[in-house]
Amino acid sequence: MRFLILVFIFLLAQLVNAQKKTVDQRVDSVLRLMTLDEKVGQMNQYNGPWAATGPLTNDDNLLTQIKAGKVSSMLNVTGVARTRELQDLAMQTRLRIPLLFGQDIIHGYRTTFPIPLAEAASWDLEAIERSARIAAIEASAAGVHWTFAPMVDIARDPRWGRVMEGAGEDPYLGSLIAKARVKGFQGRGLGNTDAVMACAKHFAAYGAAVGGRDYNSVDMSLRQLHEVYLPPFKAALDAGAATFMNSFNDLNGIPATANKYLQRDILKGEWKFKGFVVSDWGSVGEMINHGYAKDNKDASMLATNAGSDMDMESRSNIQNLAQLVKEGKVKLSLVDDAVRRILHKKFEIGLFDDPYRFCNEAREKEQWNNQLNLDAEKDMARKSIVLLKNENQLLPLKKAGGQRKIALIGPLVRSIKEHLGFWSYDWPDDSIRITSLWDEVQKKVGDSKLLYAKGCNINDSSKVGFDEAMSVAKDADIIIMSVGEARDMTGEAKSKSNIHLPGVQEELIKAIMATGKPVIVLISAGRPLIFNWTADNVPAILYTWWLGTKGAEAIADVLFGDYNPSGKLPMSFPGTEGQIPIYYNYYNTGRPATSDSDRFYRSAYIDFSIYPKFAFGYGLSYTSFNYSNINLSSTSLKSDQKLTASAVVTNTGKYDGTEVVQLYIRDMVGSVVRPVKELKGFQKIILKAGESKTVSFTITTEDLKFYNNDLKYAWETGDFEIMIGTSSKDVKTAKLTWNK
Ligand code: NOJ
Repeated sequence: MRFLILVFIFLLAQLVNAQKKTVDQRVDSVLRLMTLDEKVGQMNQYNGPWAATGPLTNDDNLLTQIKAGKVSSMLNVTGVARTRELQDLAMQTRLRIPLLFGQDIIHGYRTTFPIPLAEAASWDLEAIERSARIAAIEASAAGVHWTFAPMVDIARDPRWGRVMEGAGEDPYLGSLIAKARVKGFQGRGLGNTDAVMACAKHFAAYGAAVGGRDYNSVDMSLRQLHEVYLPPFKAALDAGAATFMNSFNDLNGIPATANKYLQRDILKGEWKFKGFVVSDWGSVGEMINHGYAKDNKDASMLATNAGSDMDMESRSNIQNLAQLVKEGKVKLSLVDDAVRRILHKKFEIGLFDDPYRFCNEAREKEQWNNQLNLDAEKDMARKSIVLLKNENQLLPLKKAGGQRKIALIGPLVRSIKEHLGFWSYDWPDDSIRITSLWDEVQKKVGDSKLLYAKGCNINDSSKVGFDEAMSVAKDADIIIMSVGEARDMTGEAKSKSNIHLPGVQEELIKAIMATGKPVIVLISAGRPLIFNWTADNVPAILYTWWLGTKGAEAIADVLFGDYNPSGKLPMSFPGTEGQIPIYYNYYNTGRPATSDSDRFYRSAYIDFSIYPKFAFGYGLSYTSFNYSNINLSSTSLKSDQKLTASAVVTNTGKYDGTEVVQLYIRDMVGSVVRPVKELKGFQKIILKAGESKTVSFTITTEDLKFYNNDLKYAWETGDFEIMIGTSSKDVKTAKLTWNK
């Protein structure tokens, strides 16, 4: 029997190899037929004639260029009809090489899911994978082959508008989420028509732009790059990400787009990445502005030599690369390598067998308003909400019956499209298919009377609506305020120097609080905002991000107790912009402040707290959890041993609830200084009211590794602290020694 199994495995391996070979051989057979111009055409990507996310180069003869084989891929072209139209043109080229259609499917297509940062707050990898899966199913049914996602940039600066696209500040959580998203997008694997190719972006360190200003320079040690910024990319690659996108920033003086160290040495060298790298929008040509390339030709040479395979919208390759090869400035072998990588993916997803296999009207229709997708979206949205404060158990609210008058006040109460957040698609029927908070609260309270006042706009200084809002508030028994950012205040090119609640919204909150009525504040935003007065004075606060198509339903479910919130912050919330960057895994320094009263020649601010307003990993529930009996299987371990660390978590409140139990480790002494704590595990558990569970984590020396000063990834013997708790700030600690 064993023999038969071995034979079977051997044959299977042969078959897989044979198939792989076949793709390689087929790629080569096409490559052999290609002229240099046709090869360069494969390294060129244009924006579709219908939409743009950056400065667009208008090409009257775009369609002619496709027919001439000068275009490999298009972005921002979706829908079966449109993709078919353009694919028809590609089928008129000499070699009939199909076009690839790429699109920013960042958090859903027709069904918009919560913004990625919100999803990260769920700490729910299965739900996040499902969200990406559904996005892929819907997008692929609309002719899309490739998403420019996940964005896996670690972000420690909420001024940077693109924090909304990622998983927050932590490399461990970020890596698991990167993997979940890649798995979700690519589903059962490339070649299935419901899979889209993932694209890990932006390689690399884009999230560390100086001052949180988008597109800005990045200057960091290689150790920090490897330890904090690269792990999610590696995780995406290990999960099979088909493509990578390089980035706009320079890294230590070399633009990422022409960064050999990143693309050739690490990605394609050490990590053995077999897919292809697309540039960011215009990032090849922008190297002229960086002062790194002297002209577009130079830019094409630098990018290609450094391992950037496809040029998005710069026209640098298409205009210069053939000439560069002729002049010997770019080796033909590098062009061949890039083209091979691109063709390989086109083969893998089956386009050479059937260029129209993603063009199926019936399938496209089936995914339009698919109820299962919408249900999954609502589930994801509820899981993403973070309860920041709930004094005297003001929440959840009672539904209909002997009910008080509820007032809904604020500029976002009646919003529809805002729920979709940045990087989402507007559809003509959005105002019908998406509901507002007003609609959903109304459904919950039946005939109870609802009152409304807008109070103010999101972002201006007018207070003309305050009086009306206050009189509505006075007439109500309880007030729900919906405030925050507009959906386009975060996202690409949406950096802000001031991240306080915009406009006069916090003043409106103060005015309403002055009525003495109980107030609940909902904050919708794409980044951590600053709202200290609200945080200190309002009894109940929910952070609701941008939650997508079913966002309002999800919020209403949480408000009225149909769902007990369990989200945990994936980023630290600063109390002032001056604290930024603020993150939980910092180094202790030689003069750490132990509290806010410990300021005498300490690493602290003389005018502000050392603490974030809300810590990484923080989030409440309608119930309460107690952590006790932290236990280690041993306090003195040897290298090959495993440690089991556990704690007893008890639901001490009166609701059933979900808790994200977090494990942090601190390496007390290292050959380079180590963070005060690092997330190394978490478990999301459900506890009935009164129930206790022992939550255990297995830890090995793998979990202790870090990049030392020689960039070697290794662990060092010595003392460690193991912390288990409900947030990065609230943990129980045990100590141990680990020796060789
Ligand atoms: C620029 C953005 O940086 C990138 O993330 C996006 O995929 C491209 N534009 C295409 O829209």
